[in-house]
Amino acid sequence: MCGIVGYIGEQNASSILVDGLTKLEYRGYDSAGLALMEKSGIEIERSVGKLINLKNQIAQKHFTAVLGIGHTRWATHGKPSFENAHPHRSNELTVVHNGIIENYLELKQFLLSKGYGFTSETDTEVVAHLIHENYEGDLLKSVQKTLKQVHGSYGLAIISEKEPDKIIIARKDSPLVIGVGEGEMFAASDIPAVLAHTRKFIFMDDGDVACLTKDGYQIYDKNDIPVTREMRTIDWNPVMAEKAGYSHFMQKEIHEQPRAIIDTIRGKFSLEQGTIGGELLEGIQHRIKDFNRIVIVACGTSWHAGLIGKFYIEKFAKIPVEVDIASEFRYRDLVIDDKTLFVAITQSGETADTLSAMRIAKKMGAAVAAVCNVVGSSVSREADSTVYTHAGPEIGVASTKAFTTQVASLFLFALQLAQTKKTMTPDQIRHYLKELVRVPEVIEKTLKHEDYILSLAKKFKDAKDFLYLGRNVNYPIALEGALKLKEISYIHAEGYPAGEMKHGPIALIDENLPVFIICPQSSVYEKIASNVQEVKSRDGIVLAVVTEGDTGLDALADHKIEIPAIAEELSVFPAVVVTQIFSYYVASLLGLDVDQPRNLAKSVTVE
Ligand code: F6R
Repeated sequence: MCGIVGYIGEQNASSILVDGLTKLEYRGYDSAGLALMEKSGIEIERSVGKLINLKNQIAQKHFTAVLGIGHTRWATHGKPSFENAHPHRSNELTVVHNGIIENYLELKQFLLSKGYGFTSETDTEVVAHLIHENYEGDLLKSVQKTLKQVHGSYGLAIISEKEPDKIIIARKDSPLVIGVGEGEMFAASDIPAVLAHTRKFIFMDDGDVACLTKDGYQIYDKNDIPVTREMRTIDWNPVMAEKAGYSHFMQKEIHEQPRAIIDTIRGKFSLEQGTIGGELLEGIQHRIKDFNRIVIVACGTSWHAGLIGKFYIEKFAKIPVEVDIASEFRYRDLVIDDKTLFVAITQSGETADTLSAMRIAKKMGAAVAAVCNVVGSSVSREADSTVYTHAGPEIGVASTKAFTTQVASLFLFALQLAQTKKTMTPDQIRHYLKELVRVPEVIEKTLKHEDYILSLAKKFKDAKDFLYLGRNVNYPIALEGALKLKEISYIHAEGYPAGEMKHGPIALIDENLPVFIICPQSSVYEKIASNVQEVKSRDGIVLAVVTEGDTGLDALADHKIEIPAIAEELSVFPAVVVTQIFSYYVASLLGLDVDQPRNLAKSVTVE
């Protein structure tokens, strides 16, 4: 979850690296650093805290290097500190690293016995010294040899004064791409870091090591054999990765949802025929008739999308679905076989627990599909079939458009399973497709309530606790609403199935507790209305999300937020948008760092 960027060419490396780190800062932000190949040798600049500290530190310095590597860190081994900030040096060479070296203690003992001194608590310094120890006149070879001694995950970039015209990079279980320019080359853990300079990217495979020079690159596989990897053109506009006039990326990404959903569902169905096609089941089509159950695994917000996916698949395709949290799934005695369809849901495609869970399921014989936002990510490359959400880069740490595009993909996925298993007629499928097509417009209309939701945020921003309630398909929205509020505003919030409230959380309700209740018109409307009554009779403050024109709860709701009418199954879209906007404004009114909340990172590539 740290960020890496590397540059070799003819331009000033320090400004390209700092610019790249700015785009990557969301991945990790407790320290940052640069290593620049100056004429006099490698200059290292490191600073604790946000990138602005590093920028201030180097503001008055004049670097001329045209080659360098940079890093933003999110602590794994060793606390956030100057000493632990990357890059790490061993004599004439310098290393930046994402990931975890599992056998670093053993390697450290070996290196201590060889006389190496350590200035940090990081596992990365071990890698730097080991590469130095293995150096026999060829940096590439010493890196290749070192990686055979190392266990764990890594995205690495290494430079050496002894070979000042190259960068060696390597990846295993940690993302790293090569950006190809004219007379210049880039390396980055994440595409937006260098998207302003090139659109041509090569995704390295696990175990690959590459040597970058200003005029080209050569990749070697894990057996040190030279290989070619496909070059892809990424059509993300660099501006797409900027804030585009909004105060925060999160706000921009909330507003991008109508577009993101259109991009995600485009070309995947025919309204006229009431059929779904395209990429959705590619790679697993031949096994569909054999599946007797589906296991969805994910973390955090993606897990909430999975809970909605269960609802869709069971309703439409009549296949039993279990939804698991990846970190629980991977350490359990599992019952998985070749009749299981395993679906990983992950925005980043790099979440360590989700990736491991997927590998376990695959090993046990399951067919493996993924719903993922990042082309070329580890999950998408290892899955038998990947449904891409086309949310574009999501920079705000709190997931918004990734979530709604995941839900849209799962909706189509469920309909396609229903089509294949003939559990729905084309007419029934067409009805739902017509409703799905309305979702972007329904979200646009919901966004028009932004000012009203802001006024509610002003009223409730100082509350100490919140309760979110929902039922049926909107129960996961209660979970998601609560998660969104707590992760960016640091206000305690709990999401609960409304019917379960009386088994515990009801004890919390008093005149100080705001209770968000997701209750659009639905098959469970009457049930949830009686839960609203339960809250009100204990003096709780009711904020009700209701369907436009619904007056049924007027006597009970202290505040009501209207969302447009749409099929019950799809009411999750406008409902979640309300909770996103509310959380966004509460956090920003409290003056908090909305896009980079404390202690969180965008993609959690360690367990
Ligand atoms: C919350 C959030 C996280 C992620 C989780 C999984 O807003 O973003 O809970 O959903 O870390 O990440 P991915 O989807 O990349 O696997």
